[in-house]
Amino acid sequence: MYLEQGEVIDEIITKIRAGRITRRTFLERAIAVGLSSTAAVSLLEACGGTSNSTTGGGQTVNINYLERDTNGVYAGLVNDFNAQNNGVHVTYNSNAPAQTDQLLTLLTTMLRARGSSIDVMPMDIIWPPEFGANGWTVPLDDKWPASDRANYLPGPLAGCTYNGKVWAAPYRTDAGLIYYRTDIIKTAPTTWEQMTSMAKANAPSKAKYGYLWQGKQYEGLVCDFTEVLYGYGGSVLDPNNPKSVTVNSPEGVAALTLMTSWVGGISPSAVTTYNEPDTLASWQNGDAVFARNWPYQYALSNDPKSSKIAGKFEVHNMLYGGSNTTGHSSLGGWQLGINAFSKNPDAAWKFIQHQLAQPAQKTFAVQLSLTSTLLSIYDDPDVLKANPFFAKLKPVFQTAQPRPVTPFYPDVSNAIQVRIHNALTGQASPSAALAGLTSDLQAIVNK
Ligand code: GLC
Repeated sequence: MYLEQGEVIDEIITKIRAGRITRRTFLERAIAVGLSSTAAVSLLEACGGTSNSTTGGGQTVNINYLERDTNGVYAGLVNDFNAQNNGVHVTYNSNAPAQTDQLLTLLTTMLRARGSSIDVMPMDIIWPPEFGANGWTVPLDDKWPASDRANYLPGPLAGCTYNGKVWAAPYRTDAGLIYYRTDIIKTAPTTWEQMTSMAKANAPSKAKYGYLWQGKQYEGLVCDFTEVLYGYGGSVLDPNNPKSVTVNSPEGVAALTLMTSWVGGISPSAVTTYNEPDTLASWQNGDAVFARNWPYQYALSNDPKSSKIAGKFEVHNMLYGGSNTTGHSSLGGWQLGINAFSKNPDAAWKFIQHQLAQPAQKTFAVQLSLTSTLLSIYDDPDVLKANPFFAKLKPVFQTAQPRPVTPFYPDVSNAIQVRIHNALTGQASPSAALAGLTSDLQAIVNK
């Protein structure tokens, strides 16, 4: 669908520029493939060279940008960019899949076909090595001076670097947080065991459920599982030797045993089908004492228009368990990459610079509570006023850990998703699931 839409748009852009179709045909075909009439008109203006959308003597270049938007903030930033009339017009498609795995399928289908229907792509922090190895994005080293990169968080930049090149520009980072209801409990727990018993003590008496998280078989489950595992001091692969699989350890068994006990206990049985939007909806409805989600949940839960618990919750950094003493968030986050097959990589970079710059970064932070990659945002008084929890995030980012770092990440992730989900749904015991996962992973990392 997206690919077809992009292809049709590419084709009509070429034809209108060559004068081979009328404005009316252009609009009809753009609307037929799903563009709103406003988007179709602005695309037409960009291609037709009206005074509204061209620079001095040159022709305006159109680029296509895909990014999910449910509240108009991204669309507003695109409009700001387009209003600059700087020779680049962005045609924005907000209808991207909500789930990272589905977005990956969509993009890799386009890229394997060397398609260019999307010029600027949102990329999850776990993808740059794969995209870099395949040459699917344009390296940014020459476009983005190191002196400017130094103004951004080093962790996400490291995640975008593969084989010595920067394959995407991080524009928001992410770290898992524990949300808790301040109208139900006064002090946040620090360990997984404490959280479990506090959830039992307060649900269902004060809220329907104790704890909401992401137990569906997808990428989000890898984040949730590794956070509990890392909290117990376990690991998936040996950080010093990524060919050594370490997941089936006493710490691993303790972590997974506790997680399986949550299903149908402090968490609804259906948590094994929950992703982030499911967690958010139930949390906003006031259904739970605790929830695990990313920072974006903060702004949406604090908005009385969409949430019954505005002003009644706080966030805490990730918990720990067993004999360990530090919690570790899973490091997430999103970057913008330039499609290597784009016909307009320089125009694409111009738009990415707009999204990386302070005004856009501040908009993301204030309006959406997205954790910026631009360091100065964390000292901005307006940001701290809108989202006071930003002041607590430094140690969260300092202790956050990546998901297993390996060139075989997609296979590793898939094996974790399947085996952990089997344990959560009672198809395998925690130790059988981890033994199975070990043999899957060993075969993958020995490839
Ligand atoms: C968030 C994170 C991303 C992660 C995803 C899992 O979007 O930023 O890194 O892969 O959640 O669902």
